[in-house]
Amino acid sequence: MTGPADNRSGATGLILGIETSCDETAAAVVSARGEIRSSVVSSQIDLHAAYGGVVPEIAGRAHLEMLPAVLAAALEGAGLVPRRPGLDAVAATSGPGLVGALLIGLSEAKALALAWDVPFVAVNHLEGHLFATLLEHAHGDRAGLDWPLVVALVSGGHSLIVSMEGPGRYRLLGQTVDDAAGEAFDKVSRFLGLGYPGGPAIEKAALAGDPTAFRFPRAMLADGLDLSFSGLKTAVVRAVQSHPEATNEDVAASFQQAVIDVLVTKAVRGVEAVGAGGLCLAGGVAANGPLRAALQSAGDELGIPVYLPSRAMCTDNAAMIAAAARWQLDNLGPSPLATPADPNLRLRLLA
Ligand code: KG4
Ligand code: ZN
Repeated sequence: MTGPADNRSGATGLILGIETSCDETAAAVVSARGEIRSSVVSSQIDLHAAYGGVVPEIAGRAHLEMLPAVLAAALEGAGLVPRRPGLDAVAATSGPGLVGALLIGLSEAKALALAWDVPFVAVNHLEGHLFATLLEHAHGDRAGLDWPLVVALVSGGHSLIVSMEGPGRYRLLGQTVDDAAGEAFDKVSRFLGLGYPGGPAIEKAALAGDPTAFRFPRAMLADGLDLSFSGLKTAVVRAVQSHPEATNEDVAASFQQAVIDVLVTKAVRGVEAVGAGGLCLAGGVAANGPLRAALQSAGDELGIPVYLPSRAMCTDNAAMIAAAARWQLDNLGPSPLATPADPNLRLRLLA
């Protein structure tokens, strides 16, 4: 007869990650070397689109319904036997995010860790996004990177400029004082009637627009590393009200250009402030093509490499959670099973 401990002796260096912090139900298996063995993401966009944004109750219920199938697909995709997968650990996002959504993935990960008698690892969603930048470029061997790297972490809920001195070693250089960059995309898109999520809708409309049609404000551009996007959103509303003839395409392109100018200027300022050896983008907004191109040109001009995660690694996924969990398990150890879901969890910063 085989006991639960046999799972450990059969350990494969694999970690199962689970992500349910917002509107994507995701599970992934990542190897100790950072190879993504499987990554399954079930998006709830269709469920929330009718409401113009994420409805927390709908998100929680959808995670509950979708997680079993997503988990099974991730384990099978990695060639593992679902009942006895022989993992090193099970990890889940514990925050920040919607509490009712977080709890679904977190509880499932704890239950699976108990059932399989393997460690449980609670991962900060923001740290997951930071690991997404490394996952596809360093494959576990991060020696080739010239630390620190400056990361513009721009998502629907957060906008941070971080100096990453190594995995787990972060300094906060700046952050938004009001709306997140993705939130601005979502709000402007809703205002223009372009739908949810706003980022891809604005990017698509902007393709046919003139980015110089409107000169929207670039808040706090002159100095510092903090960001502000709420004035930009208000400026868009005012411009459309006073220019009813303006096309959505021109407004979208001009708005997007303002966000890009601010983000690139701040990221470059961050590089100069800490003497960074590389520049990264992370978070959902990092999927934006013109932003990626602009950051790449800025890096080229500075003569430093730019690391851009694939679009699938920019938006929420569980591979980044498993990757962060690997580092955490090896360096900080497992997390207590009593770890709560924390909707306001902050990034662990260097003192
Ligand atoms: O990281 P993420 O998937 O979830 C959070 O942790 O918030 O980011 C979602 C955000 C949304 O605000 C969405 O509009 C934005 O990322 N986004 C984009 C693009 N794709 C997603 N923003 C600009 N351009 C895009 N192509
Ligand atoms: Zn995210």
